[in-house]
Amino acid sequence: MKKVNTKYIREIKLEKKKFSALTAYDYSTAKVLDEAGIDIILVGDSLAMVALGYENTNSISMDEMKIFTKAVAKGVSRAMVVCDMPFMSYHCDISSAIANIGEAVKAGANAVKIEGSGEYIYSLIKRCSEFGIPVIAHIGFTPQAINAIGGHYIQGKTYNATLELLEQAKKLEEAGAFAIVLEMVPEESAKYISENLNIATISCGAGRFCDGQVLVSDDVFGKYSNFKPKFARCYGDMRKLIYDCATQYDKDVKSGNFPSDDEVFRLEEGEVRQLLNHK
Ligand code: KIV
Repeated sequence: MKKVNTKYIREIKLEKKKFSALTAYDYSTAKVLDEAGIDIILVGDSLAMVALGYENTNSISMDEMKIFTKAVAKGVSRAMVVCDMPFMSYHCDISSAIANIGEAVKAGANAVKIEGSGEYIYSLIKRCSEFGIPVIAHIGFTPQAINAIGGHYIQGKTYNATLELLEQAKKLEEAGAFAIVLEMVPEESAKYISENLNIATISCGAGRFCDGQVLVSDDVFGKYSNFKPKFARCYGDMRKLIYDCATQYDKDVKSGNFPSDDEVFRLEEGEVRQLLNHK
């Protein structure tokens, strides 16, 4: 079983095939996703909302991301593990950004994801490439800029906005990113951008023509109930499954139906006798 790497992703693009990506935040989920054949497992900063209950992704720290990255990396053999660099962990200056990115790699990430564009981001990605750290760029709707964008708005909605996104994407490619997430971009714009890049695009609500697709696993499993984006497809009802198991367990405990004879440890008969005769 070959580990997914940047070469594999490049080949998928060349062969016009598709790859899959899902988020994971813990060891056991990551292990199952890996066994299921998911190509990229993203320790997304979405964990701030779905796993830690924060209001948006900006509250999560580098230290927290490292803990979850370590857990996910331990569960994965084949997939590429990508750590989403959290808000303000890569914005202050290149050297502290590189130090934090290095921490993500030491925690077990095979690559990092960085939101945004502009000269600073291009030079940061260039430095990462020089150091052999693969980077996935992320443009379109960038959740870490929610306060500046003002809401969950579709990006690249016009001819000019699409060309602007393509220009950013080309600069990110030139800087050394090996793939780019396009989030909440119209399908036609994402198709045009994908066709004009040599590196892979990953759709997160950017339609059918990107090289890969990424979703938040809690949306896919039907576990996160606070909000479901239009572009997410739910394949199960894990919230109901957890609820049903928990309510049944609660009933069994309270009625004395749990544990059963099979679910307890027993003393040898002689030991029981001694206990009963003990004054
Ligand atoms: O944090 C996240 O989950 C993401 C998405 C691209 C899925 O960045």
